[in-house]
Amino acid sequence: MRRLGMKIATGQTSAWREMTAATMVQVLMSAALSGVLSAQAPLATLNIQVDKPAHQVSPTLYGLMTEEINYSYDGGLYPEMVRNRTFQEHGFGGMAHWNIEHGGSSDATMSFDTTEGPSAALPASLLLEVKQADEANQAGIRNEGYWGMAVRPNTTYKGSFYAKAASGDIGSIRVALVGDTSGKEVATATSGGLSSEWKRYEFTLSTGKVEPSSENHLLLTVAHPGKVWIDLVSLFPPTYKGRDGGFRTDLMEMMAGMHPTFLRLPGGNYLEGDQIDERFDWKNTIGPMVGRPTHRSPWNYQSSDGMGLLEFLEWTEDLKIQTVLAVYAGYSLKGDHIHPGPALTPFVDDALDEIEFATGDSSTKWGAMRAKLGHPAPFPIKYVEIGNEDWFDRSGSYEGRYAQFYKAIKAKYPQLELIATAPLKRMKPDVLDDHYYKRADEFFADVKHYDTIDRNGPKIFVGEWATREGSPTTNMGAALGDAAWMTGMERNSDLIVMASYAPMFVNVNPGGMQWESDLIGYDAMTSYGAPSFYAQAMFAEYLGTEVPTSSVTGGGDRFFYSVTRDPGKGTVYLKLVNASSVAQPLEIDLAGGSVANTGTLVSLAGTNLAETNTISAPSRIVPVKSELKNLGEKFKHTMPPYSVQVLEMRGK
Ligand code: AHR
Repeated sequence: MRRLGMKIATGQTSAWREMTAATMVQVLMSAALSGVLSAQAPLATLNIQVDKPAHQVSPTLYGLMTEEINYSYDGGLYPEMVRNRTFQEHGFGGMAHWNIEHGGSSDATMSFDTTEGPSAALPASLLLEVKQADEANQAGIRNEGYWGMAVRPNTTYKGSFYAKAASGDIGSIRVALVGDTSGKEVATATSGGLSSEWKRYEFTLSTGKVEPSSENHLLLTVAHPGKVWIDLVSLFPPTYKGRDGGFRTDLMEMMAGMHPTFLRLPGGNYLEGDQIDERFDWKNTIGPMVGRPTHRSPWNYQSSDGMGLLEFLEWTEDLKIQTVLAVYAGYSLKGDHIHPGPALTPFVDDALDEIEFATGDSSTKWGAMRAKLGHPAPFPIKYVEIGNEDWFDRSGSYEGRYAQFYKAIKAKYPQLELIATAPLKRMKPDVLDDHYYKRADEFFADVKHYDTIDRNGPKIFVGEWATREGSPTTNMGAALGDAAWMTGMERNSDLIVMASYAPMFVNVNPGGMQWESDLIGYDAMTSYGAPSFYAQAMFAEYLGTEVPTSSVTGGGDRFFYSVTRDPGKGTVYLKLVNASSVAQPLEIDLAGGSVANTGTLVSLAGTNLAETNTISAPSRIVPVKSELKNLGEKFKHTMPPYSVQVLEMRGK
């Protein structure tokens, strides 16, 4: 997390300095009229009984949720640079994101051939028919990438493709990364001579001293006439922790900065698909890429399935977090469902196989498959979720579907906790997944939602939630809504075992977003966090292990707080939210435990609710860390308008 306190302060000062005297008078008058200069919210008095824990904090309270939406994986976390690598997406006039390239006097055409492909999963391919070409006049195909291809200096990119030539006369394929604006080749490679059987060819492209830029494309060309079929063209940059076929480094680092404890995977709507045969059919997502048929995401684009089940699990391994495995439960988004009973049995069996793939040792069928794919060690799993948002299933079949999955899974894996995605009448699930997408004001009004919920019911997983204000990523107003809601979740973290914001990712390029108000935005080259991203990172970093008894009197109606403590460290964490346009004065009374005179203040503040971070201004609103002074059993503190703060108070 970057701390830019000085930068922000300097920026504000210079903005004021630039004002003319007349503007200054206007600003002062309107500020005085709106009361901004003098007004503050009523004093809030917080009484915290440090040594009287009300309950424990769930250690897994904050986690992650993503799915293939907003180009989260393809064009995002899965750093494949070649877009539509298996040619299944068709746009205006042909294969989307691919074009023919004729250098000089060469002559060639490209078409989609459904009769030739490298595998049963990929039965079609691109056919390049070259009538004329030579060394100096090459013909081939060009890929534009996911809104460009990020190229950095002194970097090696690993590539591969499948090809089959009509005859060996066509020679080899030349590969080049080319600058869009300069037309200059920044790296080149040549494959071995093509054979008349389907074969996989590997290459590396190494850059030298080039300017970092995403304005690049990939060229595959030949220097002889002939016919060649091409498929599964891939180019990968270096990945997080160097994992082969792994994840985009900056996005992994951002997620790590959120201090998550789990990942809910693989969705969301993405788990269900619009139709049953468009579900996340996990068995089609494992093994070599050439065996993955790819499938349509309900967010209206083809998923490469480069992020298959094993990749998801490796992602949790790389971040050292738990997996919350959601299994397809026989209901898809457009309303098709499988009746409980024999028709559902194959889907239940699929879920059992999936759990075995993730958790079984090498003596089990699917555990052995995972080992064969390069990961002998089982992944630890505690929670399995049955479906997604099954309250949409108006047929009423969920009760029976859940019961059938529950019985079969518990019989084989009694230790697993099973999550229901809709309330049940006939049985109590271990955990219930609640979803909330709201405006900030709605979250403020609902912040006590869980205070009075029956503690004898199921535990709660807030598996999707977000304040939906701001686009593509959320603004300061949303961060305040989120932070207020998090105070409520922490206060009720005896009941709420886990919570995950959604959606997390958005590719901010035109056409990249299907769902507004996301947490982390990116293009091919860079990424940034919304103010809400930082609010969440702050809450998760200073989680604490127990909630002491506390009460508040006074305070504005947009003031919210949560207090936790870590007795092992002797630390008290006070999280404060001032969602009003005026300062919030506080008097804090800590009984039953003394704190050191100094502590740490982490502060996230905006000038107004619409203020936000963007891809070109990524650090307008970021947490600023400073020293807290004059702490004691009783002390005063004033929050700036529109702010989220954490006070870390260490024991004496
Ligand atoms: O997070 C976006 C979508 O919202 C999820 O796919 C779905 O579960 C919910 O309706």
